[in-house]
This record gives sequence, C-alpha cells and structure tokens, in this order.
Amino acid sequence: MTTKPRVDLRGVRLHVVTGKGGTGKTTVAAALALSLAAEGRQVLLTEVEGRQGLSQLFDTPPLSYGEHKVAVARNGGDVLALAVDPEEALLEYLEMYYRLGRAGKAMRKVGMIEFATTVAPGVRDVLLTGKVYEAARRRDHDEFRYDAVVLDAPPTGRITRFLNVNQEVAGVAKVGPIKRQADAIMEMLRSPRTAIHLVTLLEEMPTQETLDGVKELQAAGLPVGAVVVNMVRQPFLTVAAMQQAARGTLDRAEIAAGLVAAGLHDVPHLASALAHEAAEHAERVTMEKRERRALRKVGRPLVELPWLPDGIDLSSLYELADVLDAQGLR
Ligand SMILES: Nc1ncnc2c1ncn2[C@@H]1O[C@H](COP(=O)(O)OP(=O)(O)O)[C@@H](O)[C@H]1O
Ligand SMILES: [Mg+2]
Repeated sequence: MTTKPRVDLRGVRLHVVTGKGGTGKTTVAAALALSLAAEGRQVLLTEVEGRQGLSQLFDTPPLSYGEHKVAVARNGGDVLALAVDPEEALLEYLEMYYRLGRAGKAMRKVGMIEFATTVAPGVRDVLLTGKVYEAARRRDHDEFRYDAVVLDAPPTGRITRFLNVNQEVAGVAKVGPIKRQADAIMEMLRSPRTAIHLVTLLEEMPTQETLDGVKELQAAGLPVGAVVVNMVRQPFLTVAAMQQAARGTLDRAEIAAGLVAAGLHDVPHLASALAHEAAEHAERVTMEKRERRALRKVGRPLVELPWLPDGIDLSSLYELADVLDAQGLR
C-alpha cells in the first residue's frame, strides 16, 4: 500500500477531465467541482463542446453566456458553470487586444466571427483554451477569483492536440502579444498548476485508450493527474461463490432452497436464471480485476467511483464528490 502513487493536488488550479466518450467525463468533472468547492471554496466548472451537458446535469435552463452558480458544496462553497462559446470568446479576445468592441459586433453581423470559429478548428481551440486560462488566473483585487477551474474537456483521442494548440500558435506568431499569450497558456498547462485526469471504465477499450492517452500526454510534457475509474461494480458474491458461479457449479438446490425460504414460486426457473446472472457477474468482476491491474501499470493514482444503479442526479453528484474527497481529490 505504501508504494501506491498518491493524489497530490496541492497547487493545482486547473483540472482537465478527459476520457473516452461515455465513460462519465461530464459526471466526474461535476463531482470533482463539488468536491473541490467544499469548505467555502469557489470553483468554476467549464465545458467547451457546446452540448449544454452541465445545465442538463444540474437541471438548470441552458446556460446563457456567463458564469452561473449551479450548486452549493458541502459546508458552503460554490460551483459556477460556464459553457464556453468560441464566438463570445473571440469577441472578448478582439476587445482585449484590439479594443474592437463595436467593430467586433459588426464582424459578427457580417459572419466573420462565425467564419473564424467554425472554418478553422485550430482557432476555435485557441479561443476555448484561452478562455479557460483567463478564468484560472483571473483576480479579484489580490485574490484569485476561483480556487480551482475544472474543465469538462474533449475526449482522450483529441485532448493532446487540444491542449497543445497554443504551441502551434506560438510557433507561427514568433513575437508580439499573441505569441506571449500562447506561451503563457502553454506554460500554465505544462506546470504543476494543471492536472489532467483521465476517466475510464474497467473494460478493455477504455483501458487501452487510457494507457495510450497517458503516454501521449506525457510525451507532450503535459501533467497527468489521476486515473478515475468510473462505474465500478461492487462484487456481491464471496470469492468461493464467484469461482463456482464462473464455472457454472453453483449449488442450484441451495439457491432454490433460499428462494423457497424467501416465499417465491416457480423456483427451478428462477434458480437457473439467478445462476446465469451470477455467472455474468463473476465474468464482469474477473474482467474488472484484469483491467485494474493493467491500469495500475500507468503509475498514476487510481481513484475509483462506484456504479450507481439508479443513474445520476444531483444527489448522486454529491455522493460521488464525497467518494472523490475521501480518495484525495479535493
Ligand atoms: N458512476 C456512475 N454510475 C451510474 N451511471 C453513471 C455513472 N457515471 C456516469 N453515469 C452515466 O453514464 C452516462 C454517461 O456519462 P457522462 O458523464 O455524460 O459521460 P461523458 O461526458 O463521458 O460522455 C450518463 O447517462 C451518466 O448518467
Ligand atoms: Mg460529456
């Protein structure tokens, strides 16, 4: 146990949550934001894919542009959500560098903004990462506006490119304010102030994608945080029963006797259905063990979240936040 890598998030201001699609990125990002916001802290939860996943999750109307409070954390503390919009980010950018307030709006009218943000995907990512960077270091007087920023990021397959886009900009710009901004963003993303967490399941494809993703991020000099293993099934059989279930040698008579004792009818049919389910469960648990072993080899802390059979609502986000907190993600 002592050699197990530990999660150490001291000094991390930006948490990037990536993972294979459908593994629970949005859910984990939200739970992490809640965990980080406990005890009176202020956390901004951002999404960049234009899906309004956060408003659905927190059951609020679609987020208009801006930072809106969506939840209060344990012992006070706020989670604010922002759906970063590339067009708005570009207007802000033009205003910041060229004071193009009204001219920027005129550009939007003639479609220039839409052109810039949709035709060139690289430009889009520059704007999205730029906005997240701005939020992470924004100050109110002497203090940071947010104690942490959590990004519900693009999936593993696109994350390195997404985070590295400013390196290309810095290479093209060579000098001037755009180059300085791009360098500053890369500096932050590669520093210990950033942690990139990968969400995965204990299944073959997501595990493989996680192993590849970690390698790719590390090769690009980007700091990998924890591997968050989501939807972990709790084994509900003893080790001995699990082995019997896998071999199909569970004692049917004993199962049937238990069913009779529970007052059930059609016992032989039920007993064989149950034995079948137990075999599937045993198979799943065996696979989970194998994938967990593979993930340990990554050398990053593994954090596990339980599978919640009733799905995710606001109260289950708090539940998952507590589980993250207990494992050091706070
Ligand atoms: N721990 C969990 N237990 C049960 N269901 C979960 C869990 N985590 C996520 N889900 C469900 O899985 C689905 C995908 O989750 P989501 O966070 O939207 O994934 P992603 O953002 O990676 O596409 C959603 O329906 C969500 O409610
Ligand atoms: Mg999502």
